[in-house]
Amino acid sequence: MQQTSRTFLLFWTILLSTRAEDVTVTCVWSSSCVLPCRSQYHDIIHWYKDNKQNSVHTFYDKDDHLEYQDGDFKYRTSLFRDQLSQGNISLLLQTIRTTDEGRYKCYSATSTDNSEQFIRLRVQAPVKEVDLNMKSDKISCGMKGVYPEPQISWYIDGSAEGDFSVEKAGDKEGLFSVSSVLSQSVKENTTYNCTISLRDKTQTASLRRENVVIMSGQDATIHCPVSQEISGNSNITLMFGNSSTILTYIQVSQFPTDTEWRGKKIHVALDGTVTIPNVENEEHTGVYRCLRVSALSRQEVYSKVQIKSENYQTGVIVGLAVLIFIILIAVLCWRCRKKIVNAIRKKQQTSSSENNRNSSNGNREEQGQESTPLAQIPGQHGAETDPQ
Ligand SMILES: *[C@@H]1O[C@H](CO)[C@@H](O)[C@H](O)[C@H]1NC(C)=O
Ligand SMILES: *[C@@H]1O[C@H](CO)[C@@H](O)[C@H](O)[C@H]1NC(C)=O
Ligand SMILES: *[C@@H]1O[C@H](CO)[C@@H](O)[C@H](O)[C@H]1NC(C)=O
Ligand SMILES: *[C@@H]1O[C@H](CO)[C@@H](O)[C@H](O)[C@H]1NC(C)=O
Ligand SMILES: *[C@@H]1O[C@H](CO)[C@@H](O)[C@H](O)[C@H]1NC(C)=O
Repeated sequence: MQQTSRTFLLFWTILLSTRAEDVTVTCVWSSSCVLPCRSQYHDIIHWYKDNKQNSVHTFYDKDDHLEYQDGDFKYRTSLFRDQLSQGNISLLLQTIRTTDEGRYKCYSATSTDNSEQFIRLRVQAPVKEVDLNMKSDKISCGMKGVYPEPQISWYIDGSAEGDFSVEKAGDKEGLFSVSSVLSQSVKENTTYNCTISLRDKTQTASLRRENVVIMSGQDATIHCPVSQEISGNSNITLMFGNSSTILTYIQVSQFPTDTEWRGKKIHVALDGTVTIPNVENEEHTGVYRCLRVSALSRQEVYSKVQIKSENYQTGVIVGLAVLIFIILIAVLCWRCRKKIVNAIRKKQQTSSSENNRNSSNGNREEQGQESTPLAQIPGQHGAETDPQ
């Protein structure tokens, strides 16, 4: 009779412990974390992890007993002593490591009763911003020192793109770094999104490059990455060149508005369109960057504003025309000269062949032929050889 009731009790305990939903706590890597547990029995407290033989923390006879503590938890555990009498037998675990992930058992007992609870610990390294970079015509994306293992995906103009390389590495502390390069080259007027997911957290960065070529004196229109879907908490910064900040909006709700920059009234419309009026010189041409940052995303548009110079174009055309003209003249002259020379040679040849009929030396004839055209120029040769 006693045997069956004991078996029943055991069965009931197992049923209870498997039935009860594990409490899940997400702990931040390298910081402290409380594994919550409450029990009316608190004379004996054992904390265990997964299938580890030794305990994580042990308490009885009103004191900690850490002689048999698992080495991984040395100097990192404590109970809230002043709270034990109120049934708070939670464990404080310090400097959380990635290896702390797992299922913990909180066992508590008196000499007559006991109870067990299970707590699931998850580790998360603080999510960082996605690094999205453009080098020459390749675009790369990455994140460093995160946990758990990150998943990466790309979108081109909103549709998923599968052709990219991925490199993942884990450091000695179990944190991951990921980097990815998109296979295709960066095109103009195209939005590239890179998304990095860590379990239930997702971070996105997007990038777009535009070229704005205008005639001198025209208005230049560039864009800020504003979309209605991600409204609310985000800041917008419009920059010129590397460092010069034209404007900063804390919260997009301040749109639309005008701002004064380098003597121009810059208009920013509700849809993110920015107008720079009457662009005439280098002071206002170059690369404009508009950056939008919110808690989970970072979007950037690069706009290169250039003036299509008419002077430059006509200059090139005139230059080319002149060059062609010169070449033409040169060719004509060369042919002319050749004709004249040939005519002279012919004339010379006929006269010299008449002379050579009297002479028998062939060598002389050749030398003579070579030198005749020069010798023909009156006075010159004689004057040089004769010092007089
Ligand atoms: C136990 O006490 C600690 C320290 O005051 C507190 O942070 C924790 O939330 C308490 N836990 C429970 C389950 O009462
Ligand atoms: C990703 O790209 C699409 C279109 O290309 C855009 O609408 C969306 O806002 C982007 N997402 C983020 C978070 O930047
Ligand atoms: C990009 O868009 C601008 C403005 O809509 C346009 O003038 C330009 O020709 C486009 N560039 C390409 C390469 O399509
Ligand atoms: C802008 O940055 C590039 C590289 O980051 C650098 O080569 C260039 O000199 C910088 N220009 C100015 C005006 O600071
Ligand atoms: C926007 O800027 C303000 C002031 O600099 C800052 O406190 C806030 O955290 C920023 N918001 C975002 C989403 O970056």
